[in-house]
Amino acid sequence: MDRNRRRSRAAITVAAVGALVTGVVVSLATTANAATTLGASAAEKGRYFGTAVAAYKLSDSTYSTILNREFNMVTPENEMKWDATEPSQNSFSYGSADQIVARAQQQGMRVRGHALAWHSQQPGWVNNLSGTALRNAMLNHVTQVATYYKGKIYAWDVVNEAFADGSTGARRDSNLQRTGNDWIEAAFRAARAADPGAKLCYNDYNTDGQNAKSNAVYAMVQDFKSRGVPIDCVGFQSHFNPQSPVPSDYQANLQRFANLGVDVQITELDIEGSGTAQANNFRTVTQACLNVSRCTGITVWGIRDSDSWRASGTPLLFDGNGTKKAAYDAVLQALNGGNPTSPSPSNPSSPSPSNPSSPSPSQSNPNPGTGGCTATVSINQWQGGFVATVRVTAGSSGTNSWSVRLTLPSGATISNAWNADRSASSGAVTFTNVSYNGKINAGQFTEFGFQSSGTAGTLTPTCTAA
Ligand code: G3I
Repeated sequence: MDRNRRRSRAAITVAAVGALVTGVVVSLATTANAATTLGASAAEKGRYFGTAVAAYKLSDSTYSTILNREFNMVTPENEMKWDATEPSQNSFSYGSADQIVARAQQQGMRVRGHALAWHSQQPGWVNNLSGTALRNAMLNHVTQVATYYKGKIYAWDVVNEAFADGSTGARRDSNLQRTGNDWIEAAFRAARAADPGAKLCYNDYNTDGQNAKSNAVYAMVQDFKSRGVPIDCVGFQSHFNPQSPVPSDYQANLQRFANLGVDVQITELDIEGSGTAQANNFRTVTQACLNVSRCTGITVWGIRDSDSWRASGTPLLFDGNGTKKAAYDAVLQALNGGNPTSPSPSNPSSPSPSNPSSPSPSQSNPNPGTGGCTATVSINQWQGGFVATVRVTAGSSGTNSWSVRLTLPSGATISNAWNADRSASSGAVTFTNVSYNGKINAGQFTEFGFQSSGTAGTLTPTCTAA
């Protein structure tokens, strides 16, 4: 363990003890100051709350109003898929995806990219290819799309749904699989080279509990980590209905993946049903994410029931009129009442985020600051750039607003930041909260981040709360 990491563990211990001591205050304050939107409440827990978005619905005012109000992460539902972005070979088309990215940037939301390599929704020309030609076309696609969106994507679903259902634990047979078993790692390597600042995820369904399929994904992630294949996160789609209910070991399954040293994300959540039963299922899933320190956020697969790919199952948080359902209240309540698991010094997989192709993330000492908050920063450094994730933890009084000041070394210039406004792009920079994450209850935390060129070195943040 290097000195930085030893220091960071010690720092986290101090923070964790602080949180325990203020535990009673937390629960009292939670009710009084409860956040009123999903994104704001998740941000208070250092997480995001996102939704799948369809570009053609952005002009629908009911849809847009809910989107802008409730969510701080978006996933293009179809617009970044292979058929949409490369309709003919080497001719790229980003119009619809760009609309979503532009809206997200206007609104201070981040973007999950979905999906670079998938057996489904491929353009017709791909059917004519196989072997090396297909492998190269896939790698070119990954490289071109990830390069085009470089710096704008929080996490990419690099590979989607590559394992078979059922008890075999085998790879899904597909044209991509037939190019050779190493197609998945080749895609991840290409994505990392194209956009080293994006987290790279493997995403699948029917992997939400422990079963043959999730065991196979688990073994792949374990293998990738041991061989240094770049993977940062695993997405659990979480499409549930009575035939495929929320598994009883849902949280345990998230945790076992997190223990491999990757983030976990709930990426396409929808749960068919209605009323209290549906609400309870949504509550269970939300609480599971809060209970797993490396569960960085939840995305629902659409806004209103009528926006869903399976609308008849009414699986979302808003009804067809855009009215909040019981399921919405349950999620918000869980987020507000949630007592998130803070990274624990005894759990080596906890400090977020990871970037295995780069030097290990380092975390600086928390600085007590002057007004009742502390800030810690973790860095993912690669050749020529880095992503910093800054955690702001409220002291015993809580915060209504906060600012974090740090000085970047020369040669470092920020290209983009999320969940905070910044005073400058280089040198001494002050980050201030945005509208939805200024209020942090005592002992709770929120996170913001930025991407920069250059070398981070040791960043020493100073936090001031009001
Ligand atoms: O855009 C055309 C439109 O021009 C045409 O008139 C219409 C007629 O059917 O089709 C429209 O395209 C549809 C597209 O959704 C946009 O609505 C496609 O037919 C339809 O196949 C496509 O379905 C998408 C599905 O992926 C395709 O596999 C769903 O919207 C989307 O929600 C769904 O998302 C997937 C994730 O990507 C991966 N995990 C599972 C999830 C649910 O299936």
